[in-house]
This record gives sequence, structure tokens and C-alpha cells, in this order.
Amino acid sequence: MRALVIGAEGQLGVEVCRAFAGTELHTADLDGAGHILDVRDHERALDLITREIRPNLVILCAAAHNVPHCEKDPDLAFAVNALGARNSALASHEAGARFVFISTDYVFGDGGTRPYVETDRPAPLNVYAASKLAGEHLVAAQCPNHQIIRTAALYGAAPCRAKGGRNFVENMLHRAATQPEVRVVTDEITTPTHTVALAKQIRLLAEHGEPGLYHATCQGACSWHEFAQAIFEETGTAVNLLPTTSSEFPSPVRRPHYSVLDNAHAREQGLDIMPPWREALKDYLAERAARETRG
Ligand SMILES: NC(=O)c1ccc[n+]([C@@H]2O[C@H](COP(=O)([O-])OP(=O)(O)OC[C@H]3O[C@@H](n4cnc5c(N)ncnc54)[C@H](OP(=O)(O)O)[C@@H]3O)[C@@H](O)[C@H]2O)c1
Repeated sequence: MRALVIGAEGQLGVEVCRAFAGTELHTADLDGAGHILDVRDHERALDLITREIRPNLVILCAAAHNVPHCEKDPDLAFAVNALGARNSALASHEAGARFVFISTDYVFGDGGTRPYVETDRPAPLNVYAASKLAGEHLVAAQCPNHQIIRTAALYGAAPCRAKGGRNFVENMLHRAATQPEVRVVTDEITTPTHTVALAKQIRLLAEHGEPGLYHATCQGACSWHEFAQAIFEETGTAVNLLPTTSSEFPSPVRRPHYSVLDNAHAREQGLDIMPPWREALKDYLAERAARETRG
């Protein structure tokens, strides 16, 4: 298989590249070691995908997903997340490649009380979410051999480039070490998802799944406060962890309070290999400890 990962230097892209070891793997980013591609540049996307590489599989991990920035700059959000996805999907179709688009739990709105399945109606609350949903529609229109994979609350060894700095796990451990108390919200429910597990799921779906829309997060759900508690328990960190609510952090950007996804489509095909979120956290912490030992 000849695969192309776009956004290969991002938090998820790094692990997707690892998961596709053993294939003929090409990468593309705004800058860096691989091919150079700004997904907003339709001609460049066409040239790279249909003439330079001609892959069988394209996985688009690149996105503009700093949520507050997207809210302030909708033109950029739609240019990258909607038109950039369209450009990559159209070129993939021309090359005869399967196209995989990574999307988000944020396409769902407020009021949910049970995990969302793929047939539930999206109702995005912010510009980032609306631009990703527009990307989903454009991908489906341009490349029949597509997979749209919605995920949530990613963390992994590579940093999230859009958000900068530490992921949630590292942020919690840093705050516990430097602050007298750590306050975390109880009223946002999601499923923390380790990029290593998601990358393996993406490869399995890309190679064996039918085209269509998929949810892919770790199993189960928790509030950010429960996730923080699990991080401190698993690392034996002594900390004064206090519950709070999102009203303590007023923001101009609306976010869903409940955005848990059910991996129904993958499960129906016998292809849901995502681990429970707490097991995935243990894996992350074990890898982290091994990295620290190696120095
Ligand atoms: N992180 C989460 O919690 C989360 C949750 C749900 C869904 N997702 C989705 O998961 C995917 C991967 O997210 P991530 O956390 O890995 O993000 P990330 O670390 O920010 O990586 C995104 C990558 O896209 C690149 N990029 C941005 N604009 C580009 C453009 N115009 N052309 C080409 N590349 C561009 C970035 O390059 P630069 O850094 O050089 O700008 C970066 O390498 C995204 O589709 C995101 O929407 C993420």
C-alpha cells in the first residue's frame, strides 16, 4: 500500500505514521521533512496527490483546530477545515485513492444524554465545529471512497500543535507539581482518547472498513474532573483536586457539555478495537515512564 498522511507532524499525525509502518509511507505538512502542502492550495494538492505520489490511501490529519482562534477567524477555519478537506478529497478521488478525514465530537450540540451514534443529527455550536462539519459534507460529495472518522479529546506523546504546549495529562501533572490546588470542571463529559489507540483503529478501518462515517474514541466516558482524578490516582500524585464548573471560566466560544461518541459503525463491522479510556491512560503513562527512563 502507498499511503499519504497530511498533517503528519501533528499530535495524531505522528502516531498515524507509526501505525502505518511497513507500508510505503509519504508525508505532507506546511513545513518540515516531508512534502510541503498547504491544503488550502488546490493546485498543489492536485499535483502532489495525482502526479507526484499517486497513493492508494490519503489520511488527512491536518486541521485548524484552535477553537478560540477559529471563532475569531472563520475564514481561516473554513479555508482549512472545509475547503482544504475538499481539495484533498477531490485530488484523492482523481488519483483513485481512499480518503480518510479526521473529524470531531464537537459536531454535536447541547442536550445530549446518551452516546451519539453516526446517524444522530449534528448541531455544531461553534465555528470550528461548523467548519469540520462542512468539511465532512464536502469530502462525502467529492470522494465516494471516503471514511470520515470523528474522534474526541486527544492526547499523546507528540504535542498538539494547534493548542501548543502540554496535553491534558501533562498539564494536570504540571499543575499538581506547581500549584497548591487544581480545579477541574465536572460539567463537560467526553471520552479522553489516546492517539496510539486511535491510530491503530484508523489503520484497521482504512484497510478493512467499508466507506462511510465512523465514530472512534476510547470506550466509556468521564468528566474532565474524573479524568484528572484518574491521572493522579494512576501516577500516585498527591494533590488537592477540587471540582468546579464551566461557569467559572466564561468563554465567548460555546462547547457541548456532553459529546460522548458511540463507535457503533465500527462495532457493527467487528472492527471496533478502541480500549477503555482508563486502560489507554495507563498505556500512555507506561510509555511516558519508559521515555523518562530512557532519558
Ligand atoms: N486534539 C483534539 O483533542 C481533537 C479532538 C477531536 C478531533 N480532532 C481532530 O483530529 C485531527 C488531528 O488533530 P491534532 O490534535 O493532531 O492537531 P495538531 O497537533 O494541531 O496537528 C494539526 C496539523 O495540521 C497542520 N496544518 C494546519 N493548517 C494546515 C494547512 N493549511 N495545510 C496543511 N497542514 C496544516 C498543522 O501544522 P502547523 O502546526 O505547522 O500549523 C499541524 O501539523 C484534526 O482533524 C482535529 O480536528 C482533534
